[in-house]
Amino acid sequence: MLPFQTPLCQRLGIAHPIFGFSHEPDVVVAIAQAGGFPVLGLARDAPQDIPAIVRDVEARLAGLPYGIDLMLPAQVPEQADPQSLQAALPPAHVAFVAGLRERFAIPPPGKPSFFTAHARSEALFQAQIDAVLNSKACAVATAIGLRAELIAEAKRRGKLTFSLIGSVRHARKALDMGVEVLVAQGYDAGGHTGTVGTMSLLPQIVELAQNTPVLAAGGIATGAQILGCICSGAQGAWLGTLWMAAQENHTPPALLDRLIASNSEDTIISRAHSGKPCRVLRSDWIDAWNEAGAPPPLGMPHQQALTGDVFASIHEHNNARLIYEAAGQSVFGIRERTTVAAQMDLLVAQMDRAWDRMAGWAQQPA
Ligand SMILES: Cc1cc2nc3c(=O)[nH]c(=O)nc-3n(C[C@H](O)[C@H](O)[C@H](O)COP(=O)(O)O)c2cc1C
Repeated sequence: MLPFQTPLCQRLGIAHPIFGFSHEPDVVVAIAQAGGFPVLGLARDAPQDIPAIVRDVEARLAGLPYGIDLMLPAQVPEQADPQSLQAALPPAHVAFVAGLRERFAIPPPGKPSFFTAHARSEALFQAQIDAVLNSKACAVATAIGLRAELIAEAKRRGKLTFSLIGSVRHARKALDMGVEVLVAQGYDAGGHTGTVGTMSLLPQIVELAQNTPVLAAGGIATGAQILGCICSGAQGAWLGTLWMAAQENHTPPALLDRLIASNSEDTIISRAHSGKPCRVLRSDWIDAWNEAGAPPPLGMPHQQALTGDVFASIHEHNNARLIYEAAGQSVFGIRERTTVAAQMDLLVAQMDRAWDRMAGWAQQPA
């Protein structure tokens, strides 16, 4: 086994410098069991469900370390529910989406989901924050927004604070607020992103952060890339897209087929999902928002109030033509249905091979 226990790995007590973000508890448990550091995304969970989700994950982890991630943008309403937001949506947008529902014959979703029952608001965020602070997670990560009170309170409770940042400006803000680990997430990443690619962002953040540990995120799907990030000064890599290929993710079959068939060019940045720029896998639904005559997507949380039922429906009905999800340029690494354990083994073996290759080159006579 390679000596790739960076200081952050040692601090967290993990075997490999691999940090795995997922909304799916089964993936989180499997990443921890395979020696990585899992981060459970709770941004898509209703506050009332979070305590049970967290209790279940903690019981299955049996003391293995894990983190929780929340997405906390500023400028959302104090209180919001989908119905009241829907009542105030611009009529032209409502008509456009009604036209798409008809054109693509999208049925209403049959089951309740976060995307139809909830709207992002300060009240929702506060409930999510309370549940996270009360958890046994040893780390708290936040994305899109920074909350000084959350960072201070998480630290007071002994949790390590992480922040996903996409620019030098954001990184500076996070450091000023006392964040302890920066996740330099490049434009290549699945989900909400900035405009700078991981390869260019990482060295700038490493230089700025000095003694604060930095992780690299975005576009990473191989062990050689992880090693490359460590060579650039990162203490590990943070992966999101890759786990969607694992059976533990319970990815709808149509989405998994599309992920397997997709290359990096099949992901694009779109505001059609959440209202904020988000890298997603293309589908006819996403493309419809780029057609001539389509209105610009609304902001967050209004775009979700407008289209949340469609997202829920196309996932529930496994709609091969329309289904999409956040996905990074790292989708090139998804080539078959697999398991988290197999993915972790492969990443570690690839790190090993890349190390041997480098060592071989380093020994070549000039
Ligand atoms: C399906 C999916 C959902 C995501 N949701 C969140 C989220 O709720 N919060 C967050 O901080 N990051 C989220 N991300 C981004 C990941 O944390 C991570 O930065 C990103 O996946 C890294 O790039 P990669 O997708 O190329 O591996 C999501 C990514 C994916 C693929």
